[in-house]
This record gives sequence, structure tokens and C-alpha cells, in this order.
Amino acid sequence: MTSQTKIRTGKGEGEAVGIALLGFGTVGAEVFRLLGENADAFAHRIGGPAEIRGVAVQNKNKLRPGVPKDLLTDDAKALVMRDDIDLVVEVIGGIDFPRELVLAALNAGKSVVTANKALVAAHADELAEAADNAGVDLYFEAAVAAAIPVVGMLRRSLAGDQIQRISGIVNGTTNFILDAMESTGASYADALAEATRLGYAEADPTADVEGHDAASKAAILASLGFHTRVTFDDVYCEGISNITAEDISAAQQAGYSIKLLAICERLRDAEGNESVNARVHPTLVPKEHPLASVSKSYNAIFVEAEAAGSLMFYGNGAGGNPTASAVLGDVVGASRNIVHGGRAPGENTYANLPIADFGQVYTRYHIDMEVVDRTGVLSAISALFAKHNVSLRTVRQEDGDGIARLIVVTHTALEHEMQGIVEELGQLDDVKAVHSVIRLDGGQL
Ligand code: NDP
Ligand code: HSE
Repeated sequence: MTSQTKIRTGKGEGEAVGIALLGFGTVGAEVFRLLGENADAFAHRIGGPAEIRGVAVQNKNKLRPGVPKDLLTDDAKALVMRDDIDLVVEVIGGIDFPRELVLAALNAGKSVVTANKALVAAHADELAEAADNAGVDLYFEAAVAAAIPVVGMLRRSLAGDQIQRISGIVNGTTNFILDAMESTGASYADALAEATRLGYAEADPTADVEGHDAASKAAILASLGFHTRVTFDDVYCEGISNITAEDISAAQQAGYSIKLLAICERLRDAEGNESVNARVHPTLVPKEHPLASVSKSYNAIFVEAEAAGSLMFYGNGAGGNPTASAVLGDVVGASRNIVHGGRAPGENTYANLPIADFGQVYTRYHIDMEVVDRTGVLSAISALFAKHNVSLRTVRQEDGDGIARLIVVTHTALEHEMQGIVEELGQLDDVKAVHSVIRLDGGQL
């Protein structure tokens, strides 16, 4: 149960909200521009003017057209602690330094808006507790899927439902890369460079391509959706750095697109005990599935809820403007509470569900291998799958010169059995190479 003990009184209608903007990069610059250009509209929506009173950056001497020099500082901590700051907007990135800043702000009774999924996924409990103790707001809509308002939707609109599953594409950079490789034949390196140039990638794009960014978002979605704490470390994570042009063209030939999916599931064992699992990995999606046509840096999220049924959310998942939209929505929400009093509902992790081991999850596999083309090979391979209680859905063989290419698609089976099969396949003399092992999603997709 969260404790939301303090009732905050507002500054009063017409009073200004003093904002510290921490970071002036891809996102921060757009937040600054849009807040300035639409100042009147924001004042009406909030009930008082929203004034950026300081902008913290790393390099004060960089040219920042349109930003008065006296607003800039390279001392973010001092800016946060100033008496005229009511609301801190953190768009720096990273974990340790923003954690220090956000905690300092919350502990000093200032509300916080952040776009930082890595921070929220790693330290949500600590941050939520600090916000609760101070009776202030901690908003992070932009942390997941940029412009798609999935955080607010889970926090508010679906708070009366039981969510079973949340899945989809939550990283714009990797979707941009996979889409470019598939649709234009671009190389992995060129597509990543372009995603970086367009402002989609993290400061260190390893976070994108290795799936860490999507894993942080999965942790946040699972926590909000299942009312339990799931952290970054609880999420099984594989990125796209090993996906080759050959994998993409083989998938295309077989009628699939490869997408990096985040999947969060509520599981129930035979005794009815519940647990949750969250995972991120490249996944084959049938061409006719809506996720297959999610292109460029777009994101799409499916939510399966007991009463609502299936919901799908689609939109811009990265970039300065779309992210600024989400940040500014939070700025309006937090500022209204600063002016009128009260606070938004905090997080509630009452369900306290255990994290299911990834090995206990049900998945399907698509395995592409080269085998010696002789009698008995197929039966040896089938026997290996049968030993692990995995049944084969389709087997396709393309004959070569003494070597055959075998493409096996399995039925849904326990992940740890699948992993056992993949390990043992490599040890069979007649299996010359395992080209790719890619999961097909075993759930609603
Ligand atoms: P950028 O790298 O473009 O900008 C980071 C900003 O932080 C820069 O202005 C930089 O200063 C400033 N900064 C770095 N270190 C410090 C410091 N020690 N003190 C003060 N300022 C500092 O990042 P983004 O704008 O792309 O991302 C910001 C956050 O938003 C991240 O958490 C990211 O995950 C999140 N986000 C980003 C999205 C995107 O599409 N880009 C989408 C959704 C979320 P300087 O300008 O001097 O270098
Ligand atoms: N690097 C992130 C992405 C930014 O590509 O999705 C949006 O969170």
C-alpha cells in the first residue's frame, strides 16, 4: 500500500509555477521551445503561468539560440534547490546523477517530471517513497513510448480493470533499424547512425540495440499494469545486435518481420498462484499482424485487460517533439496541482507478485539450420524435440548439394525446454550450422 499522507495546499489561482529544466538536448530544447511558444495556452490550462527559471546543461558555452544566457547554468543541483523552483523537469538521462537531482527535488518538496526510463526502472520504489513522503508529484509519461500516453492510461483509465498482458514495440531506434534493414536493405550500422542523427537513440545507443531501453520500459509497464514492482533487473533482455541481413531476408521469405518486442505477462500456475514475467527479445511477427507494419521510429502497444478486452496504442515512440508532448502533458498536470493543491495518484504496488523465471514462460521458436542431407537426420532432430516435450508445427526442407536447409517452427512450449533443444542441436553431428533461433510470440500475437 502506498502512503499518501500529506495533503498539499496550492499556491493559488493565477500564481506562477517556477520550473527548472534539467537538460537542453533533443528533448529539453523542444520542451523549452513549445512551452515558450504556447505560454498563454499553458497558463490557461494550468491556472497560472509556467515559467522556466533556469536551464541546467553540461556545457554552458554551447550556442543555444533563443535561450537567455542568464537562464543557463552548469550547476543543476543548485538550480533544483533554489527557492523559486516549484517543479523540476529532468531530461538529462543516465541514472546516478539524475537520481541525486530527482531525490533532492522530491525531498525538498518539489514535484518532478522526468522522461528517464532508466532511472525510473532502476529506482522506482525509492523515488515513489520520496514523492509520497513529501506529498508531491512524480510524473514520467515520456519514459515509455514517448508520445503514446500509455503511462497515464495504465495509471488512470485502466485502474479499474485486471490487466493480463502488455506487449509491443517500445523502442523507436531498434524499430527504425529493423525497418530500414527490411524495407531498404540498409546496413545495420547506417540505420543506427541515421537513428542517432534523428535524435531517437540514447546518448549511448548500446542501451537501444542491446534491448536495455526497452527492458526499462517493460519494467515500468509491468509495474503499472500489474500493480507490483518490476525493476530493470527483473526483465529478461536480448537486443538486436546479432540480427543479420540474412535473418531479415529469411524471415521475409517465410512471411515474417523481425521486431524487438517487450512482453509483460501475468502468469497463473496450476494451483492458481500468480506471478509476472517481463521480457524483451527479437521476435518474428507474421506479416499480416498489425505490429509487422509498424515502421520507422513508431511504437505500438497492445494491452489485454479482463473487462476492456484488447486495446492497441500506436504513435511516435521517439524524437524531440513527440517526447516533449508527453513531458509537457506532465508539466501541465504537475503544475495544476502546484497551483490548485493536491496531487495525482501515486504508484500502488500492493499486489506484490513474484517474478516468474523466464524458463517458465511459454514461447514458440523459429529455427533455421543446415543439416547433412541423409536418411535419418529428420528423425534424430524430431526425437530431440520430443525428448523436451516440444512438438513441431511446421518443418520446411530446402535441398542443397549434400546439405539441406531445415526451417523448424515449434508449437508453444516451455522456454527452458527450448533452450535445452538449442544447446543440444549444436552438438548433433548432422547439424552443420544453426543460422538463427528467433522466438515467435506465443501469446496473442
Ligand atoms: P540528449 O543527450 O540530447 O541531451 C541531454 C542533455 O542533458 C544535454 O543538454 C546535456 O547538456 C545535458 N546534461 C548532460 N549532463 C549534464 C549535467 N551533468 N548537468 C546538466 N546537464 C547535463 O538527451 P535526450 O534529450 O535525447 O534525452 C534526455 C532524456 O529523455 C533521457 O533520459 C532519454 O532516455 C529520455 N528520452 C529521450 C527520447 C528521445 O527520443 N530522445 C524519448 C523519450 C525519452 P549539453 O547540451 O551541454 O550537452
Ligand atoms: N532511445 C529511445 C527509443 C527514445 O529509441 O525508443 C525513446 O524512449
